[in-house]
Amino acid sequence: KSLVVAIDGPSGSGKSSVSKEVARRLKLAYLDTGAMYRALTWFCLQNGMDLEDRAAVEAASKALPLEVSTSPQEEYVRVGGDDVTLAIREPAISAAVSAVATTLGARTELIRRQRELIEKHHRRMVVEGRDITTVVAPGAEVRMLLTASEEARLRRRGIQLGGSQNAEQLAAQVTRRDAKDSTVVNFTTAADGVVTLDSSDLDFDETVQAALDIVDT
Ligand code: CDP
Repeated sequence: KSLVVAIDGPSGSGKSSVSKEVARRLKLAYLDTGAMYRALTWFCLQNGMDLEDRAAVEAASKALPLEVSTSPQEEYVRVGGDDVTLAIREPAISAAVSAVATTLGARTELIRRQRELIEKHHRRMVVEGRDITTVVAPGAEVRMLLTASEEARLRRRGIQLGGSQNAEQLAAQVTRRDAKDSTVVNFTTAADGVVTLDSSDLDFDETVQAALDIVDT
């Protein structure tokens, strides 16, 4: 029986770790769609592309030789022969990813691939991102928006405000990325039928339990 669990949320909401654990507990496949946008960004930068050139970014999305893991047990991302699992988490990618993710043609292509992966797993998958509940899988059996206060989100990113200037810069970078992402995808308010899970005052285990409870209802 099909069970797609769609989980959206902003940066630092704990989305990835919670989604992965929910997939493990429910023995479902797992897809991190953010990793796909990051991999495309890596590919464009690797090829010395101008990320503002929308047509070129769209063409790159179609040519992207991408392989992502769909198991919550092992995480890998490969582009062609390169294992980019760690490289796509670098600050340079985080800083550039929104330019790629706001290229509508590239989104269309990655969304097509995401849907293909969901079908390949017979619609038994936890899928996390920014537009899963609304665009990628609006027909998902379970749809939730994982939120957290700005303070909690920065804390989880290891950013201590009022600490160093570096911390202030990191915080500003995350805020800027969320703001830019919001121009193409709404992931700050829940769409109709989407359950909001606010994790501000919950620890990791409590958040996983709350998510599992939502799946059960
Ligand atoms: O690391 P973090 O949780 O902040 O972000 P991520 O899930 O790795 O996603 C990285 C970037 O990919 C986001 O900032 C968005 O620009 C983009 N993204 C998107 O546009 N749509 C998605 N479904 C997932 C990610």
